[in-house]
Amino acid sequence: MAEKFNRATFSRNFLKNITRIKNPDEMIEDAKSDGLEKTLGVWDLIILGVGAIIGSGIFAVVGIAAAGSADGSSLGAGPALVISMIVAAIACIFSALCYSEFATMIPVAGGAYTYTFATLGEFAAWMVGWVLMLEYAIGFIAVACAWSNYLMQFLQLFENSLPAWLVHPPVWLTNDVFTVGKMLSENPDLSVPTILGVPVCINIPAIAIVLLMTAILVKGTKDSAKMAGLMVFIKLAVIFLFVLFGALSFAHTPPHWVPFNIHTFAPNGMAGIWSAAFLIFFAYIGFDALATAAEECKNPQKDLPIGIIGSLAVTTVVYVLVALVLTGMVDTTGNVSLNFLKAPMVYCMNMIHQDTLATLISVGSLAGLTSVLLVLEMAATRILFAMSRDHFISKRFQAIHPKFKTPALLTWTVGLMAVIGILTLDLNVAAELCNYGTFTSFIIVCVAVLILRKTDPNRKRPFKVPFSPYTPALGIICCGGLMVYKFMQSGASAMLFPVWLGIGAIIYLLYGFISNRNNENKLHNELVHGKEKE
Ligand code: ALA
Repeated sequence: MAEKFNRATFSRNFLKNITRIKNPDEMIEDAKSDGLEKTLGVWDLIILGVGAIIGSGIFAVVGIAAAGSADGSSLGAGPALVISMIVAAIACIFSALCYSEFATMIPVAGGAYTYTFATLGEFAAWMVGWVLMLEYAIGFIAVACAWSNYLMQFLQLFENSLPAWLVHPPVWLTNDVFTVGKMLSENPDLSVPTILGVPVCINIPAIAIVLLMTAILVKGTKDSAKMAGLMVFIKLAVIFLFVLFGALSFAHTPPHWVPFNIHTFAPNGMAGIWSAAFLIFFAYIGFDALATAAEECKNPQKDLPIGIIGSLAVTTVVYVLVALVLTGMVDTTGNVSLNFLKAPMVYCMNMIHQDTLATLISVGSLAGLTSVLLVLEMAATRILFAMSRDHFISKRFQAIHPKFKTPALLTWTVGLMAVIGILTLDLNVAAELCNYGTFTSFIIVCVAVLILRKTDPNRKRPFKVPFSPYTPALGIICCGGLMVYKFMQSGASAMLFPVWLGIGAIIYLLYGFISNRNNENKLHNELVHGKEKE
């Protein structure tokens, strides 16, 4: 039997306990004994990576990054968007290299969470896992709601052939409670059911896609990779057609970024380029999710760096081409149409009367968001899986489905929590919190590389970050700079981020800390009784 929790002993050892480091060899052993099935090869990884990255960032946010937001709160880069794209990619590549070093050195589930446990200790690891839930779980909820908006836009393309109840359903069945609240303040006659004065909103498309993604993930990681593969093919195909037809249009309408005049190229100067780089950083989020699936790779040492850096490279090329075509086709130095801000690629194709292509791009946007959803949910479950193995959450979540060999209970729990989030969260704030989670995890991984190089210099590193310590240091500076910039700009999320951290610390003290000490006592007792029997 486990010894009873002893408060006095724990307080004495408090500092030692919360900085307890988990040996990477122990993590690799744990993963061998009760790990996940190894099914992913290098192409699966690149597909999952591109699947995770290319989504609402390039299909929607890019319009605001180019032309600025309609309310003037965010400056646009104009044709210099291409520079912002490259700046954001450079910020990511430093972190991607650090992720690759860790993922090949400690190829177990959990990503940044796992690396923190190996370097900064128990409490920091829990906090990073908690913060990663902002990136993956809260990001998952935000993208599911964006998916719902895209679906409604898509259905409206078939206004003449589809029934009205499908094309224009009641707003409370397709939006979150905060959006409907804003709609009600503009139009109090809107028919929305209420309970105690609070609008009842059930975003059915968002809930349906979350449940569908959850079922697919439960069925199997390999199947999920196949499904992501189809989505990636569709989205890359429509982006290719967009670039092709956009570039061909330059034959009769010269692009707006020629000649290279600084006033027309970067209408808001460096402020516009920096602001757009921050915004478009969101479009690159996702490559880090690959590291969380390390345990399911057939050959992580060789394949993971190719997967992480390869998917980032493919995405950067795609984004730069899209930026050149978009800002070439539309004059982004002044006011632009609201439709351009909502769906820039669709707008451009409608502009040159390629309506079928515009419809295909809408399909591609939905496919893009679907694959992002799949990988974000997978990453959230893999981190929680690692955290449950480390006694931070119930061991029950370690259960692997006997037939599908996936953490089914955990995956369904994440899916159901996401449904609760869809019913209750303010999605704009959720998306911003997702950025904070990402910046923090990138910075921590860069710091962790530097620490482990000092504390464990002889550990075998199948992939080494080149030019360390400069590369990790540049990663910290770039991501830290973007995070501070964001912190100074935003309101609600800048306040909620410390609140999230505080709640995390309290949960750790009330559950994770005690559960880990109980486990240590249990192991100690088992050892003592074993010796007594001998
Ligand atoms: N990078 C992902 C997207 O753009 C999060 O949707």
